[in-house]
Amino acid sequence: METLRVLELYSGIGGMHYALKQTGISADVVAAIDINTTANQIYKHNFPDTPLWNRTIEGIPLDELNGLCFDVILMSPPCQPFTRLGLQRDITDPRTKSFLYILDLLPRLSQLPRFILLENVKGFESSSARQCLVETLTKCGYTYQEVMVSPTSVGIPNSRLRYFLMAKLSTLAHSKKSFQPSEEPPSRLSPVDSLTEENPSPGFLYKLETTTEVLRKVNQNMDLSVRQIQDFLEPEENVDIEQYLVPHKTLLRYALILDIVTPVCRRSVCFTKGYGRYVEGTGSVLQSCMETEMESVFKHVDQCSKDDDKLQQLLKLKLRYFTPREVANLMGFPKSFSFPAQIPIKQRYKVLGNSLNVVVVASLLQELISS
Ligand SMILES: C[S@@+](CC[C@H](N)C(=O)[O-])C[C@H]1O[C@@H](n2cnc3c(N)ncnc32)[C@H](O)[C@@H]1O
Repeated sequence: METLRVLELYSGIGGMHYALKQTGISADVVAAIDINTTANQIYKHNFPDTPLWNRTIEGIPLDELNGLCFDVILMSPPCQPFTRLGLQRDITDPRTKSFLYILDLLPRLSQLPRFILLENVKGFESSSARQCLVETLTKCGYTYQEVMVSPTSVGIPNSRLRYFLMAKLSTLAHSKKSFQPSEEPPSRLSPVDSLTEENPSPGFLYKLETTTEVLRKVNQNMDLSVRQIQDFLEPEENVDIEQYLVPHKTLLRYALILDIVTPVCRRSVCFTKGYGRYVEGTGSVLQSCMETEMESVFKHVDQCSKDDDKLQQLLKLKLRYFTPREVANLMGFPKSFSFPAQIPIKQRYKVLGNSLNVVVVASLLQELISS
């Protein structure tokens, strides 16, 4: 196959570019476009030879895009308009403007790209933006497939359920598949995280969790098709543990809602852009002292009336945040990926939280382009 010319929209820190490299498909990113200056610094640091445009997508005229003669569009448009926890303003949200602009331009391009891959959050599948997208694709003669996939499907112990749409110009496609929520993802990916309640007793409920949540965690930890967290950790001697320990104040206030994993777990929750700043729902923390049993600590905490005593118990677990390198590992970024030294840790978490799982996207791209 000839070298494909790829346009990477909303390029961030280059998750799509890494996925493309991981497929081994012969391809050049002819332009990466993003307005986030921190993400752009990181992108440039890792892909110094790729043309990186620090511009708003909706400000790029048709002629300029035509000049790029691209065969592929890879894109992860801003997800805030569609997140289930947000206002779901969808196409009325100003952050969807650039995406609608792309849809408007697509039919007017002098040469339609042969392949398109889009990533977004769960919630996008029922949005009006998705409706506009599939209508535009159909009008332009694309066939498409939509799937919801989490990295656990490719053996990575991290949940990050995302919507993906893969489109092919019809002349290239053999069959048309449309979205069915229960549809099997492409062959190399197993179905998304499933929840069954037939497994052993979850044992003692010592945190603010429902039985269903505990059961799900027990199930996940028993799924041998998923690797253990320890495979994704930095060597202990590389981690300045003091820098990553969960602060005392956070421990006292939020211990019961922290999602705690150990190195032998086969699960962790999705890392979001607020990791390290906010506690609830932003990502798991790691128990780094394995000599102490979590259950016994929480039993004692329950019995302590003084904050000081509670704290002494909780400190035994040595709970720490995953380092940005470890989050990157769990998101499938290769060893060669790095941050420029000046990027602060919180910014690193933020851009990683906005990015995607490279291994998942590589599998989908392979399916889209090579099959
Ligand atoms: C979900 S993130 C994409 C992350 C990327 N795939 C990665 O691997 O890091 C969305 C990105 O779109 C960028 N963005 C949002 N609106 C934009 C616009 N109008 N023009 C260009 N970039 C935009 C944001 O700065 C952000 O980096």
